[in-house]
This record gives sequence, C-alpha cells and structure tokens, in this order.
Amino acid sequence: MEIQKFTSLKIEWLQKQKQLGMTLTVFFYKTYIDEALKAYDLDGVKVKGYMATSLMDSFEWLNGYKVGFGLHHVDFNNPNRPRTPKYSAHYYYQVMKDNGFPLTEDEKMIYGHFRKEFIWSTATASYQIEGGWRADGKGLSIWDKFAHTPLKVFNDDNGDIACDSYNKIDEDVAILKQLKVTHYRFFISWSRVLPDGTTSHINEAGLSYYDRLVKALLAANIQPHITLYHWDLPQALQDIGGWENDDIVGKFRDYADLIFSRLGHNVKHWITINEPYNIAMVGHGYGVAAPGINFRPGTLPYIVGHNLIKAHAEVWHLYNDKYRAVQKGIISITINSDWSEPRNPYKQEDIDAARRVVQFYIGWFAHPIYNGDYSDVMKTIIRERSLAAGLTKSRLPEFTPDEIKRIKGTYDYFGFNHYTTVLAFPVNFGDLSHYDADRGAGTVVDRTWLDSGSGWLKITPFGFRRILNFIKEEYGNPPIIITENGVSERGPIDLNDNHRTYHYEKYINQVLKAYLQDNVDIRGYTAWSLMDNLEWATGFSERFGLFYVNHSDPNVPRVKKASVSTYSTIISCNGFPDPASGPHDCLKPEPEGKLI
Ligand code: NOJ
Repeated sequence: MEIQKFTSLKIEWLQKQKQLGMTLTVFFYKTYIDEALKAYDLDGVKVKGYMATSLMDSFEWLNGYKVGFGLHHVDFNNPNRPRTPKYSAHYYYQVMKDNGFPLTEDEKMIYGHFRKEFIWSTATASYQIEGGWRADGKGLSIWDKFAHTPLKVFNDDNGDIACDSYNKIDEDVAILKQLKVTHYRFFISWSRVLPDGTTSHINEAGLSYYDRLVKALLAANIQPHITLYHWDLPQALQDIGGWENDDIVGKFRDYADLIFSRLGHNVKHWITINEPYNIAMVGHGYGVAAPGINFRPGTLPYIVGHNLIKAHAEVWHLYNDKYRAVQKGIISITINSDWSEPRNPYKQEDIDAARRVVQFYIGWFAHPIYNGDYSDVMKTIIRERSLAAGLTKSRLPEFTPDEIKRIKGTYDYFGFNHYTTVLAFPVNFGDLSHYDADRGAGTVVDRTWLDSGSGWLKITPFGFRRILNFIKEEYGNPPIIITENGVSERGPIDLNDNHRTYHYEKYINQVLKAYLQDNVDIRGYTAWSLMDNLEWATGFSERFGLFYVNHSDPNVPRVKKASVSTYSTIISCNGFPDPASGPHDCLKPEPEGKLI
C-alpha cells in the first residue's frame, strides 16, 4: 500500500516536473531569443537566423528518451510515434510570426484622462511611520511585541521611531503638498487611542495627534482618507484571543464609534480594515506577521477571516445608521489581491488553478461583502476536504442566513490594493489541513518580468487591468478606489528611481485603459507609499517610498526621489494627455522647490 502510494506520488512528481519543464522551455526561448534580438538590434551583431532545438523529442544520447528537447512531444510508447505540439511550439510559432517581440496591445500606452473629481492619493500606515511607540500613554500593539521579538523582523528593525511621523505632522503635510495629491490615506493606531483596546480609557493625547493631522491636511486642501485598522491590534486584545475571539467584533465597533464621533465631522472617506487576507493568512496562517501564529493554518485563518468580515460589516452599519446622515462620508473595506494567470494558457487545469487562486484571495472577502456569503468554490472545496479528512463539518465557518444578509452590501465603494500577478498550476497537497492545500495551487512567475526590491513583487502592469475587470464583472460593477499600488527597491540609495517612474506610468496607464476602454468605474488611485518606511517583517530594507527617509539620521529627513515629479505630473494632468494635442500646461516642468 505504502509502496503504491509512493509510486503514484513519484509519477505525479515526474509529471509535474515535465509540465514545469514545458513552461521553462517557453521562458528559455523568450529570454534567449530576446538576447539574440538585443545583440542584433542594439549591438549590431549580424544575427541572420535562429534555430530552435528541437522539432520533436528524440533520442537524447546518454539520456535516452527521458529528456525531451522537442517543440513537439513524441509518444514513444505508441508504435505510430504521434507528435503533439507543446506550449513551447505555440509560443515559438508566435515569435516567428511576429519576427521578434512587437509591443503587445497590453503594453501599449494610451492617452486620455480620468473623470473630474478623481481621487489622487498616497498612503502610509501607523506602525510603519509613526514611531512614538510609548509616547504620551500609547498602549502596546501586537506589532510592538512582534518586532521586539528577536529574529522576527529583518535586521531586528522595529517601528519604535520609524519615520517619527508622530512628531512630524508639518513635514509630512509639506511633502504631500509637493506631490499635489488630493487625498492622503493614513491609519489610526488603535492602541495609541485606546491603550488596552477598550473604551475604558481614552488616550486624549493620541487622539489629538490624529485630530491635528486631519486639521493640517484640510488646511492644505488635502482630504483625509482614514483606515481604522492596519494590523496593529492592541496587545491587550490579543491577550484575550485577538481576532480569533468573536468579542473582537464589538470591541472594533466601540473603537470605530469613538473615532467617528471625534474625527468624523472632518473626514469624508473611511476604510474599516486594510487587507483582511494578510491579517488572516500572513499573521495567523504563515505566521510571518504579528501575531505570528502558524500552527493551525487550515482553521485559524478562516476563523480570523470570519470575524474580520463581521467586524467590518458592523462598523459599516454603525456608520450608515448613526453617522452618515450628518457626516456625509463614504466607508468600505480595502481588499488586496494578486491577479493570477494559468502557467500554461493551453491547459484547462492551469486555467482552473488560476481561477481558484483568485477566488481564494480576493474572493474570500469580496464575495461575502459584494455578492453574499463565501463563494461556492471556497465552500465546496473546504467542506469536501474537511469531511474527507474525517471532520464532521467544514473548516470554513458558516454564516447564518441573517449574517449573510447583514454583511452583503456593506460597502460604498471597492477599496482595492494591488501589486502583482502570478502564474498558477494545480498542486495536490494530499490531506494537508492548510489554506494552500484547500486552494490546491502553486504559483510561479515569468522570469522575464521585471524585479522589484521585494521577492513577491514582479512588475506586471497587464494584470492590473485584468483584475479591475474581474472586479467589475464579478462584484456588480462597484465604484473602485485603488487604495494602494506601488513598487519597492532595496540596496544602495539612488534617488533617481527610474524603475518607480516606469512602474507608476505603466500601472496607472492600465488603470486608465480599464476606465476608458472597459468602463470600469474607477474613482481614485493611491500610490504606496508617501515615504520609505518599515516594510513589516523585512524591516527598512525594502523601500516603497516616493520620498527617501534616512533612518540613520536622528531627524529622519524626507528627501524626494525622481518619481515624485512623475507622479505629480500624472496628477496635474489627471492622466496622460496626448502630446500631439498639446501643448499641455500640466506637462511643463515646475521650478525646483526647496528640499525638505
Ligand atoms: C500592503 C500593506 O497595506 C502595506 O502596509 C505594505 O507596506 C504594502 N502592501 C507593501 O508591501
């Protein structure tokens, strides 16, 4: 029995390697032919032709028939030796037809502008920038504890001082003005306002920081876009179970009530929770973010996710019932997701895997809020795998019919964070109790995609338009505010951040295509991030900022990178004007202001 199981696993593994091999062959042709093109085009080498090895799988000398170099698979068990084209044959055919690599439709830039009143914003988050971790009566958060635990954060960096924004309201508002943003997305640290997480003690000094920040923004004609929760739960609440304990729903509601009542008269844009996927999965499944739990990856993330959805819904209802009429703001949740394409676009099982990746990512949270209840894909797969493992019910908690109704529709817009795209393929993890095993997919990236300073982030603008269209189709065409998008670098400081300029131009242009050509209802765009800050478990090593922050200088000065002028030009033009229809004032360079 065991031997049989082992043999079948081995065969499955060999088949996977073969499939992976096919995708690798495509990457191989892509990169080698592209290098040959560069030699021809850029270096003047007289490259006259290219021959792909080989037309079909054949006898590969000492390796016999085990290694297949062919563009066509040959079935050596069949006396007729049938030839079947592989993915690489389709790919090579296309390269020959195009005689190289013309710009694809996806890659071409378009001209045009966004709607009037478009929200142009940038973002930061409390723990990543504020510092003042013990200032004026602030309570501890799970991130204070996590970052002070050795080896949890790269280089043992922490947010004790970070960008010292707690003491730098004026500097922060000044750089926002340079960018010319209409809005600023920032976060409130729950434990700065309510040190033990409950309203039993309100820390007025902490509240006053946010009140002063809001007023300074309004004075600069910048609208605050406030998020109530960005991962830094008060440690006192973690001590009683955190997001696993459903008492959190009421506690979050009380905290939100306080914030609406104290700041709401000056704030029109709200987000309840940032990136529930990361809270549930990264914090409670993989355990590489606070609170750092990883020993129940098949159950805890789903319980946490369930409570996050309920907490969001209750706060939306609170605002809707008690504050909206007077304060006249809008409120939603921010959901993050990668886009996913099949690793081999000619394989149905890869296409299915790509769909599952998206449904388990964006769909986990968006489906209950926009469509009602978890998606059938998640419910069915997790229930079947739970029962097959001998459990009596699904590891995915169920909403009652009343809860489904109460949660559905708790949005005023779709708050969306997006960074990258992956290529998916099916993986059978056996009976492992894990979110990844439920999803039943692995992911790779195309090795020709441009890198960033973060291992997980490849520059893939085309995926942005696709996932925006997915949101439109799947969730009933909601108004969308992109609440984060950006790129990182690491290593030596170079204020000439060409890759960021490239990133913003290409990604925002895809958003414009989604808006103008696909009628996706896009209302705003937010660049992550205003300044270099503590990138969670990777510390200060990955820098997402439009402004560089020198953390070894006690004054942590903000210095603009070259991409500041790119982004502020896009903002001034409200998009990408056609130079042929110019001149356009918004494209004229401005006299250099003084550096902050
Ligand atoms: C999303 C998170 O909201 C933010 O805190 C983080 O820094 C960026 N992604 C980049 O990883």
